[in-house]
Amino acid sequence: MRAHTNSTNPCLKILIFLILQTFLPFMTHFKNFKSEAKILTLPLKSQVIPSGYLPRPPNKLRFHHNVSLTVSITVGTPPQNVTLVIDTGSELSWLHCSNNTTNRVSSDPFFNPNLSSSYTPISCSSTTCTTRTRDFPIPASCDSNNHCHATLSYADASSSEGNLASDSFGFGGPINPGIVFGCMDSSISTNSDGDFNTTGLMGMNLGSLSLVSQLKIPKFSYCISGSDFSGILLLGESNISWVGSLNYTPLVQMSTPLPYFDRAAYSVRLMGIKVSDKLLNLSNIILAPDHTGAGQTMFDLGTQFTFLLGPVYSILREEFLSQTNSTLRVMDDPNFAFQLAMDLCYRVPLNQSKLPELPSVSLVFDGAEMRVSGEQVLYEVPSGIIGNDSVYCFTFGNSDLLGVESFIIGHHQQQNMWMEFDLVNSRVGLAHVQCDLVSQKVLGYGYLGPHD
Ligand SMILES: *[C@@H]1O[C@H](CO)[C@@H](O)[C@H](O)[C@H]1NC(C)=O
Ligand SMILES: *[C@@H]1O[C@H](CO)[C@@H](O)[C@H](O)[C@H]1NC(C)=O
Ligand SMILES: *[C@@H]1O[C@H](CO)[C@@H](O)[C@H](O)[C@H]1NC(C)=O
Ligand SMILES: *[C@@H]1O[C@H](CO)[C@@H](O)[C@H](O)[C@H]1NC(C)=O
Ligand SMILES: *[C@@H]1O[C@H](CO)[C@@H](O)[C@H](O)[C@H]1NC(C)=O
Ligand SMILES: *[C@@H]1O[C@H](CO)[C@@H](O)[C@H](O)[C@H]1NC(C)=O
Ligand SMILES: *[C@@H]1O[C@H](CO)[C@@H](O)[C@H](O)[C@H]1NC(C)=O
Ligand SMILES: *[C@@H]1O[C@H](CO)[C@@H](O)[C@H](O)[C@H]1NC(C)=O
Ligand SMILES: *[C@@H]1O[C@H](CO)[C@@H](O)[C@H](O)[C@H]1NC(C)=O
Ligand SMILES: *[C@@H]1O[C@H](CO)[C@@H](O)[C@H](O)[C@H]1NC(C)=O
Ligand SMILES: *[C@@H]1O[C@H](CO)[C@@H](O)[C@H](O)[C@H]1NC(C)=O
Repeated sequence: MRAHTNSTNPCLKILIFLILQTFLPFMTHFKNFKSEAKILTLPLKSQVIPSGYLPRPPNKLRFHHNVSLTVSITVGTPPQNVTLVIDTGSELSWLHCSNNTTNRVSSDPFFNPNLSSSYTPISCSSTTCTTRTRDFPIPASCDSNNHCHATLSYADASSSEGNLASDSFGFGGPINPGIVFGCMDSSISTNSDGDFNTTGLMGMNLGSLSLVSQLKIPKFSYCISGSDFSGILLLGESNISWVGSLNYTPLVQMSTPLPYFDRAAYSVRLMGIKVSDKLLNLSNIILAPDHTGAGQTMFDLGTQFTFLLGPVYSILREEFLSQTNSTLRVMDDPNFAFQLAMDLCYRVPLNQSKLPELPSVSLVFDGAEMRVSGEQVLYEVPSGIIGNDSVYCFTFGNSDLLGVESFIIGHHQQQNMWMEFDLVNSRVGLAHVQCDLVSQKVLGYGYLGPHD
């Protein structure tokens, strides 16, 4: 996704354009997935990630987002357990690395390359180092050992240095050797509460260095529970018949690079939006990307909520407001916007045990629909108490307030959806399911680990 602080900054636009021109995402062939015809099932968990902990590639949103989905895998020989934030909007996976300890305990949030016999730094003359690093704010360079040196930047404009390296990754099935990742120095502040185990990030977009491309995964699927944010991630060809039939929408591909179009993103065609059953009148608005690539619609597990371009957001906001103004009390503070971009908020008395019935919001795609219903359309602002009321905000926000040029569908809105990313057929399949039940069933049927 394209993010910039000021929509009128031409230098940044040119820079982004040059980066895109130089480092095109390469679509890869998915035929030789090493675990072909096998499913790897991994439980998903959600964690509150302290703001500033995750470095953001230059092309990602700059705001702090809190709740992230994590998955536990192993890296190295012998395997070290690591917990990674899943991000379908980033390319390169990276780990916080530290050589300091001579042994590693399971709660240690660092990967220790010194304890892995299969750890191999990438040489700076390798093509991986020279051509394929579009997640970095500055191109990778050579360090004094001739290793590929990389920099990742954080939301607060600080940065983290490290090396590109390769090592063996395990997802519960056969070990996958030679996976390229960023081994970043761990001189970060892990916040005051040391109870924090996340080691890094798993990049899952369509770029050539993403895990999906490196593993040549033909398909992956996930399901995020609405109650406790747990869920499952399936890597590989899955045939989970009890999910029912999926509705498919094609992945949008762009043959020419455009400044605001992220060609490595999971991009789909948005056709309309409904509130309850009322289709919004968006007849004056073009929902497709324009000649700059602005107006792209993408699914992104690395973003918590959903953001729509200003003109569309305004119409949605107005309709949602008019359908809720008799049952909910709008917060009358024009200066308040939750996470900078969600400015439709309500005051709900603390002694009110449940929210009134809420209108659903449906995103209509070419061939499929995503209905966000019930309490999922609102989010209780943490520690947002005013008087005797708690504050709830609409979970759709305004991209314009973030300086973002796209429609981004975050993981909150993807709860209780079976989401299948079918890369061979270049499409996304969706079905409304109850993910806690499906997860139990999938895990309960012994789908944990490889299957024929
Ligand atoms: C993010 O998490 C921190 C705790 O790590 C919490 O204090 C803060 O309120 C959260 N922010 C949002 C916007 O949820
Ligand atoms: C690397 O590990 C070895 C033991 O395996 C230890 O002797 C050495 O001090 C470690 N190096 C660093 C930099 O921690
Ligand atoms: C590793 O050691 C260096 C130098 O001794 C120190 O500056 C750094 O903070 C240590 N890192 C961790 C994660 O302990
Ligand atoms: C890694 O996790 C597995 C499963 O949770 C556990 O059995 C194993 O002991 C852990 N290994 C290490 C080195 O902590
Ligand atoms: C970190 O790991 C320890 C030990 O595995 C566990 O008890 C603790 O709950 C974990 N913390 C978080 C925030 O997941
Ligand atoms: C950590 O250890 C690995 C493997 O021994 C080595 O390649 C790397 O340079 C070390 N990193 C630091 C910061 O000492
Ligand atoms: C999926 O499973 C169903 C029944 O369990 C079977 O009819 C179908 O052929 C399977 N599809 C694939 C692609 O394996
Ligand atoms: C939709 O809105 C446009 C103005 O934005 C208006 O001209 C048109 O009549 C509206 N269509 C319907 C069906 O309300
Ligand atoms: C609620 O919205 C409707 C439709 O926009 C409007 O007619 C009505 O006056 C509003 N009611 C309140 C209490 O704001
Ligand atoms: C909540 O408290 C207010 C006064 O603070 C009272 O008027 C209202 O009846 C209470 N509602 C419930 C559901 O108890
Ligand atoms: C909150 O409610 C209590 C009683 O339920 C009342 O005494 C108090 O005045 C209320 N506070 C505000 C700010 O309304």
